[in-house]
Amino acid sequence: MRVISGRVFFRGRLEPLSIGIDETGQIAAIKKVLRSDDEIDHGDSLILPGCVDLHVHMRDPGLRHKEDFPSGTRSAAIGGVTTVADMPNTVPAVTTAMALDEKAAALRGRASVDYVLYAAPQSGAAVPRLANAVAFKVFMAESTGNLEVTVGHMEEILRASETQRKLVVVHAEDPGKFTKVEGRDLKGHAEARPKVAEETAVGTVARIRGRAKVHVAHVTCVGALDAVPAGATCEVTPHHLFLDWLRPIGAQGKVNPPLRSPRDRDELWDAFRSGRIDAVASDHAPHTVEEKSLPFEEAPAGLPGVGTAFPLLMRRIRAGELDLPRLVSAVATRPAEILGIAKGTIEVGRDGDLVVVDPRNIEAVTAKRVRYKCGWTPFEGMEGCFPGTVYLRGETIVDDGEAISDGQGRLIGGSS
Ligand code: DOR
Ligand code: ZN
Repeated sequence: MRVISGRVFFRGRLEPLSIGIDETGQIAAIKKVLRSDDEIDHGDSLILPGCVDLHVHMRDPGLRHKEDFPSGTRSAAIGGVTTVADMPNTVPAVTTAMALDEKAAALRGRASVDYVLYAAPQSGAAVPRLANAVAFKVFMAESTGNLEVTVGHMEEILRASETQRKLVVVHAEDPGKFTKVEGRDLKGHAEARPKVAEETAVGTVARIRGRAKVHVAHVTCVGALDAVPAGATCEVTPHHLFLDWLRPIGAQGKVNPPLRSPRDRDELWDAFRSGRIDAVASDHAPHTVEEKSLPFEEAPAGLPGVGTAFPLLMRRIRAGELDLPRLVSAVATRPAEILGIAKGTIEVGRDGDLVVVDPRNIEAVTAKRVRYKCGWTPFEGMEGCFPGTVYLRGETIVDDGEAISDGQGRLIGGSS
């Protein structure tokens, strides 16, 4: 048994404890003192549950010039993420059970962290039974991959999800509320895909969801949050919390749904701090520097974030702007609950996925620090607090801030 000690976040507070992880990688004991011939003592560093990122686009297979599974999951590990949930707009798109199985086979043995996969059925009539997917993704509006469905199809997917007991993650923007003209800068992009498009779409979800388990992706404003029905869950991205349309980053900040005004961002931060938002998910959606250097209207939407979400938020703890239980809940515990996986909490029986972090260790966030394949981050130069060590099922995958492992990440989930 491996024993890992430090100031452990256990049952809502920090305590000096030892965590025993058995040969299968599960937490077998949590005690004041545990003895083993394999003991690692992290002193007064914090030990938190590994982060679960509900929303990433690792671009593998098909778009590996932007990102691939080995590179994306290494960046995830560096940023304290031990499980990623990968979106279906890869190439070929994951719209059928066969495409899903092929993707699962193509990824096997290539991930540094554990992963779950989403599927995006295109027609409710053919909503497949998906053994390997934990959830469906529904795009209500066009974005990278052109996987949007009509509201009618969405209803069929929602009904199928009730039978299959699958979560449905919704990209909620109503294209009927978009303006005809494309924006030429970040503010223009936000005006072209306005808040009302999001609010209306979330309202539609609330109306048709029935008994389906629904999760609203990337809310950008309090109006959208107000429309999320009781019983549904929602996420916010770090870019909507830390960036707004005034940030002078041009098309690097082009993303769907768009960055909003500084005021929207402040309101969103307050809502997040007060616990109105279940989870932080990165919506890691890398494109190359060349693609993002195109004229604004032509540049693809999406930005990387899997390696920087936790460090940026952890920095806010040090600054006294966020409390630790809220952070742990949003980046680990709630996302694991939403996906229904045995992760996200330091508790006997859970996987031994742990992040060791010293809050005093503040560094600049750079694309190089997180080893992004795409080579850029919209958060370049901001301050972050990165983990020193990360464990996946008890094995060290980040040591002294660097990813040191390849290939032991596993596909999780797929109950039916
Ligand atoms: O900006 C976005 N980029 N929004 C999405 O919904 C998809 C994503 C991507 O895959 O590039
Ligand atoms: Zn996305």
